[in-house]
Amino acid sequence: MSFDLLVRGGTLPDGRVADIGIRGERIAAVEPRLEAEAGRVIDAAGDLVAPPFVDPHFHMDATLSYGLPRVNASGTLLEGISLWGELREIATVDEMVGRAVTYCDWAASMGLLAIRSHVDTTPGHLRGAEAMLEVRRRVAGYIDLQLVAFPQDGLYRAPEGRANLIRALDMGLDVVGGIPHFERTMEEGAESLRDLARIASDRGLMWDVHCDETDDPMSRHVETMAREVTRHGLGGRAAGSHLTSMHSMDNYYVSKLIPLIAESGMTAIPNPLINITLQGRHDTYPKRRGLTRVKELQAAGVTVGWGQDCVLDPWYSLGTADMLDVAFMGLHVAQMTHPEEMARCFRMVTEDNARIMGLEGYGLAPGCLASLVVLDAGDPVEAVRLRTDRLAVVSKGRVIAERARNDTRLSLPGRPASVRRRHAAGSGTNG
Ligand code: FE2
Repeated sequence: MSFDLLVRGGTLPDGRVADIGIRGERIAAVEPRLEAEAGRVIDAAGDLVAPPFVDPHFHMDATLSYGLPRVNASGTLLEGISLWGELREIATVDEMVGRAVTYCDWAASMGLLAIRSHVDTTPGHLRGAEAMLEVRRRVAGYIDLQLVAFPQDGLYRAPEGRANLIRALDMGLDVVGGIPHFERTMEEGAESLRDLARIASDRGLMWDVHCDETDDPMSRHVETMAREVTRHGLGGRAAGSHLTSMHSMDNYYVSKLIPLIAESGMTAIPNPLINITLQGRHDTYPKRRGLTRVKELQAAGVTVGWGQDCVLDPWYSLGTADMLDVAFMGLHVAQMTHPEEMARCFRMVTEDNARIMGLEGYGLAPGCLASLVVLDAGDPVEAVRLRTDRLAVVSKGRVIAERARNDTRLSLPGRPASVRRRHAAGSGTNG
């Protein structure tokens, strides 16, 4: 028996310790101990070996543009949208491609190997769509990139919004978007959802809607979306992104709404980094958090992932392509502090996000794609606590990123020491 690559002795997210044998692009064997030759061996003893991180909600056409042409002074969603409206008219295809490929380098180094990016299809020039299709071609060997035709300024509110979205789908974007709360009226928002659901159904595409990203408790488009998902049988391939108005809704109404969402089979993608900063900006005190009802949706059986949304762009001035940052913030804002909830937060940025994106061959079982990340942590909760280093990243059988362990040497009076911040079983503690 021989393998191209053998990842030796890592701890899997479910706690098993196993060797992972890889041939070509696929995992060939996962066993407690594999006695075999291998072209290369990665020693992962004591480290967490997980399937790659997945981000189901991002804006790659805008990323790494912070400060262009100016910063978002109010910090609101609406100033971000108008600032982006200026930038997209001056950004060239080459500039957008360059920034996005740089971001993909960051993502690869972080073990983030599948990303769903919304692409603004509002302007008739469709330079964003052209640029992101080029990026998808360039990174296809190591990152799976799904592109959403996203009518940022409204399907009906923008003059050519609907026609340009259709043109972008014809160019090869693979997911239908939507933004009902930004249409002119509630009625037009609801009509946009009926329209978009038909487009997704007729073309056999997935559907991912920026839905109710507002603090208005009467923004109830998710109700219409769930109805359309049920009507067209889109359950496994439809996602409601943000859903922040659910934070502010009346509890009695939500007790009817959540079962309808669960019945539809649609998934939910809250984006905690961005929504904890954007929402509640019209409040004095108390200020609302503006995150959807994560634990309640999960309790009803809805698949909920964590999305990143933005890095260094008109809406968010920080970010590093680290999905553990996203999980860490989500854990805090949704108060998911029970050990099982903390472990769930790690699953949300890996397995649950992969399910939302419908990724083929995802996981650490024989036959799955040989994509994984070796983390400087003893278990998933520790990985979230430390937002830890990626020691190695493997994509489709190839080692694409490596870094040295980052322990700190201390020089304290009378007591030389080194610090490892790891504490989980098998991790060792401060030396
Ligand atoms: Fe978004």
